Amino acid sequence: MGEMYKLTVIPGDGIGPEVTAEAVDVLKSVAARHDLEFYTEEALMGGCAIDACGEPLPAETLAKCRQSDAVLLGAIGGPKWDTTDPDKPRPEQGLLGLRKELELFANIRPVRIFDDLIEASTLRPEVVRGVDLVVVRELTGGLYFGASAREGDRAYDTMDYRAFEVERLMRVAFELARKRRGRVHSVDKANVLESSRLWRETVDKTAADYTDVELIHQLVDNTAMQLIRNPGQFDVIATNNMFGDILSDESSMLCGSLGMLASASLGSGRPGLYEPIHGSAPDIAGENKANPIATILSVAMMFQYSFDLPEPAAAIERAVDKVLAGGHRTADIMSDGMNQVGTTEMGELIRRALD
Ligand code: IPM
Ligand code: MG
Repeated sequence: MGEMYKLTVIPGDGIGPEVTAEAVDVLKSVAARHDLEFYTEEALMGGCAIDACGEPLPAETLAKCRQSDAVLLGAIGGPKWDTTDPDKPRPEQGLLGLRKELELFANIRPVRIFDDLIEASTLRPEVVRGVDLVVVRELTGGLYFGASAREGDRAYDTMDYRAFEVERLMRVAFELARKRRGRVHSVDKANVLESSRLWRETVDKTAADYTDVELIHQLVDNTAMQLIRNPGQFDVIATNNMFGDILSDESSMLCGSLGMLASASLGSGRPGLYEPIHGSAPDIAGENKANPIATILSVAMMFQYSFDLPEPAAAIERAVDKVLAGGHRTADIMSDGMNQVGTTEMGELIRRALD
């Protein structure tokens, strides 16, 4: 028997259970071919956890995750749990709590343009062809976790960073760039924000250890514009939690559908968290319409980043490419002349395409 891994699966809300089911089946098929064994266990988080236990991140879920080698997440949230009442639990608190508790400070969001889907982009093909970039987003600090309060008709959130948080994030970005095209854009708002001036200073100090990597400082408003004007200039984009949230959604649209993009959230040790970047899409939940590819590609990232197994990762990516080249599409990436399939059919096609 080969190596044994423990995986916690958090299906979550909306389309989450449908896409994770396909991804786990792909994972098991790939594992069997590479003589690897996976022990999987499910856990509750988000809206379904609020319904079942009254809180978005039950202690049992956190304990299971801590004992795992990796965590696979579908998606969380939905209109049922939307509220602006600061005293009511929100599904998103589950995800933020998990990131913080597992110290997953680096969020890696690759954006690769699939040649077969170039027509799905809202930008002209010549602008997006060949785009291959990664957003490295700080995930456990900044505006998401700074002092925050509601006082009558006043409310505030603070963007708070320490140098060590910037340094450890930038090391991930520089290391990644070394394995890619060797360029890092560090994105801030140093012309206005004090936290961004600390960010920039710390980036420069850290960069001294990576003189082989090209470093470009860029202001976030300019980055937002450059991503649409000439996305091909980017290799690795490193930025804070809030800017990274916004820029990663923007970058994802270069490739036409959120349904294609995977992500990894990493800390200094195990476990890492893997999830599609799309949300829970409650409008199509339970209808076998969701695109499982982002979650399946998140499993590929898991093999790569948590287990350092590039071969099973590449096998999954090749299978996805093959199915797309064969003309199969879920509704979100459908175009004229293609064969429209549902969630389960797409999962099955990808499993059969594994070589
Ligand atoms: C994301 C999401 C989350 C975030 C939400 C669901 C809390 O938008 O992962 O980008 O803002 O980080
Ligand atoms: Mg987001």
